[in-house]
Amino acid sequence: MTHNILVTGGAGYLGSIMVPELLAAGHKVTVLDNFMFKQNSLAHCCANPNFDVVKGDARDQALLKKLLAGTDVVIPLAALVGAPLCNQDPIGATSLNLDGQINLFKLLSKEQRVLMPITNSGYGIGEAGKECTEETPLRPISLYGVHKVEVEKALLDRGNAISFRLATVFGMAPRMRIDLLVNDFVHRAVNDRAVVLFEGHFIRNYIHIRDVTRAFMHGLDNFETMRNQAYNVGLSDANLSKIQLAERIRRHVPEFVAVEAPIGEDMDKRDYIVSNAKIEGTGWHPAHSLDDGIKELVKGFRMIRNAVYGNV
Ligand SMILES: NC(=O)c1ccc[n+]([C@@H]2O[C@H](COP(=O)([O-])OP(=O)(O)OC[C@H]3O[C@@H](n4cnc5c(N)ncnc54)[C@H](O)[C@@H]3O)[C@@H](O)[C@H]2O)c1
Repeated sequence: MTHNILVTGGAGYLGSIMVPELLAAGHKVTVLDNFMFKQNSLAHCCANPNFDVVKGDARDQALLKKLLAGTDVVIPLAALVGAPLCNQDPIGATSLNLDGQINLFKLLSKEQRVLMPITNSGYGIGEAGKECTEETPLRPISLYGVHKVEVEKALLDRGNAISFRLATVFGMAPRMRIDLLVNDFVHRAVNDRAVVLFEGHFIRNYIHIRDVTRAFMHGLDNFETMRNQAYNVGLSDANLSKIQLAERIRRHVPEFVAVEAPIGEDMDKRDYIVSNAKIEGTGWHPAHSLDDGIKELVKGFRMIRNAVYGNV
């Protein structure tokens, strides 16, 4: 079954992989994005007659009302993403990540479905050695995480929706992000051969960007059985500390050196082990390993340089 899908923020990191895949599956996709990074990440979709794009603000209620007519599925990706950006612009973060999402839910008819990326940041600081499941109390530690947890509650209260609690995403995309942990470490490995680790024992869970798309498509195909639930989406064999992650990267970039800082702390205090058994129980399994992603990133970072003021 094909759908008319509205993807807000569809030109972002996740959207620039997800939108082409939705189109390839035969869905009609309209993207609403303000292109805040001046990205042309969906240029390759424009030739597809099932694709449309609107440059605008995802908080613009009149515009949303117009775009929602004829839409049966909404995937809200527009956000100020990550704790540092939200701390830099807390007013913008509140108006888009919290109020903007809740106002969007109010504009929807009961029949319109929502598939929403939340983050497993909500688990904050986990209990040592204990896996966080979807039943684990949420204790977000950043403004970004607090908003995500509130939005998920509003989403599941509204119903006719699925919440995906994503692990830290990695992998190449047309709109690239090197602020994500795996991407950042591989970028440093390729360019600097070294990283300094603060609180290297903190454990996080990871997921390949294409497996995020696969989870959303799985949700579309299995909506009736999965609806009104939250699902962790991560690699069950990749609950790794930052030290372990650096060791994995060294398998692919042998010259890479990770040094633990004797003093100092990481601003990002997230530290938890996540169980992904619930979504795996619905028949979804990841197709891309952490090693696949590292190899892909090593290739990708031969193309991308982040040195605006350097001559090389
Ligand atoms: N990447 C991850 O690791 C991860 C993990 C968990 C959840 N998420 C969630 O997935 C969603 C997408 O994240 P991403 O990694 O693709 O981030 P991103 O920053 O690459 O994408 C955000 C997109 O939203 C657009 N945007 C920003 N403000 C807008 C506005 N006012 N109106 C319209 N568009 C606007 C940006 O131009 C961009 O295309 C976010 O909700 C994020 O919280 C991401």
